[in-house]
Amino acid sequence: MMQTKRPQDSFVIMSELVLPNDTNTLGNLMGGKLMHWMDIAAAISSQKHCNCPVVTVSVDNVSFTQPVKLGNLLTIESKLTRSFNTSMEVYLRVWGEDLSAQYKYLSNEAYMTFVALDPNGRPRVVPELVPETDAEKKMHEGALRRRQLRLILGGKMKTEEAGELRALFFKED
Ligand SMILES: CC(C)(COP(=O)(O)OP(=O)(O)OC[C@H]1O[C@@H](n2cnc3c(N)ncnc32)[C@H](O)[C@@H]1OP(=O)(O)O)[C@@H](O)C(=O)NCCC(=O)NCCS
Repeated sequence: MMQTKRPQDSFVIMSELVLPNDTNTLGNLMGGKLMHWMDIAAAISSQKHCNCPVVTVSVDNVSFTQPVKLGNLLTIESKLTRSFNTSMEVYLRVWGEDLSAQYKYLSNEAYMTFVALDPNGRPRVVPELVPETDAEKKMHEGALRRRQLRLILGGKMKTEEAGELRALFFKED
């Protein structure tokens, strides 16, 4: 029997200073650079959970709500919300911070999914994630619906197989 893990076991905080090479001509952090750092933070979270190599299998909609300015501090927090069979969903929150003005703002949020690999590069089973706090339990439950949605969008699941999603829209007999 595989050891279970807590969301806290996969918690990662990554900080980066936004430098000129990271920005566009308006002095804002480039979206692609941000996604690169988010990918790394989320990959570390999932590796802390499964203790083996992982690959990114999907990135949910990332909406850039607040630009992060040149010279500001960028902080990414990431942790697992749920593990499935061989895949893991990671939730990320990204903050910008003007250290001189002592002002911190939420820049964006995203979900990313990773697959654990065995030495032959094939998907391998990951430990179960057991949520502890109320917020973690809510995220854990919602992960079932988000997984179905992304598998439908990725062409890996038929809509009629998405039982959790159907329950949101249809009354079962
Ligand atoms: C990830 C990869 C190993 C999966 O291989 P596969 O043969 O498709 O394996 P499966 O269909 O069994 O899927 C494996 C897991 O990924 C999940 N998955 C597959 N496509 C998915 C998608 N679009 N969104 C979310 N999860 C997905 C499956 O649900 C399954 O998870 P589960 O076991 O927890 O149910 C393979 O697609 C791959 O190597 N992709 C490239 C990864 C990569 O290079 N990433 C870097 C970014 S370019």
